[in-house]
Amino acid sequence: MTDRELVAAAVSASEYAYSPYSGCRVGAALLTKSGKVFTGCNIENASYGATNCAERTALFKAVSEGETEFEKIAVFGKSKDGADIYFYPCGICRQALSEFCDENFTVITAKSPDDFVTDTLGNLLKNGFKL
Ligand code: THU
Repeated sequence: MTDRELVAAAVSASEYAYSPYSGCRVGAALLTKSGKVFTGCNIENASYGATNCAERTALFKAVSEGETEFEKIAVFGKSKDGADIYFYPCGICRQALSEFCDENFTVITAKSPDDFVTDTLGNLLKNGFKL
């Protein structure tokens, strides 16, 4: 699966965003080492605090179906005003990913299907909490 294909899956997943409060539409696509793709969108809540980001939706779907080894994730988001910005995983999502992924895990953030950048989880989360 190419980075471009994974980004396309994240863009499609963003269409399911439930975000009546922020208006941000975010999608994520997580590739397992076994070659499966799990997608997720952001799911907001009236309490705000119960909101789940797209990345964690994808991660929790995968883990709950027995997948715990991952290669890369693509994230695509649009703000309420439609501005093109890179939606990087928030701190909670970086920590959640670090439970299952090592520092070489690839994080792709996309502004559009053709405009994306890659980084590593190790670079995005220094000294993540581990037990
Ligand atoms: N959000 C994500 O789903 N992923 C990110 O990487 C950053 C933020 C969502 C959470 C909330 O629904 C909205 O974007 C605004 O923070």
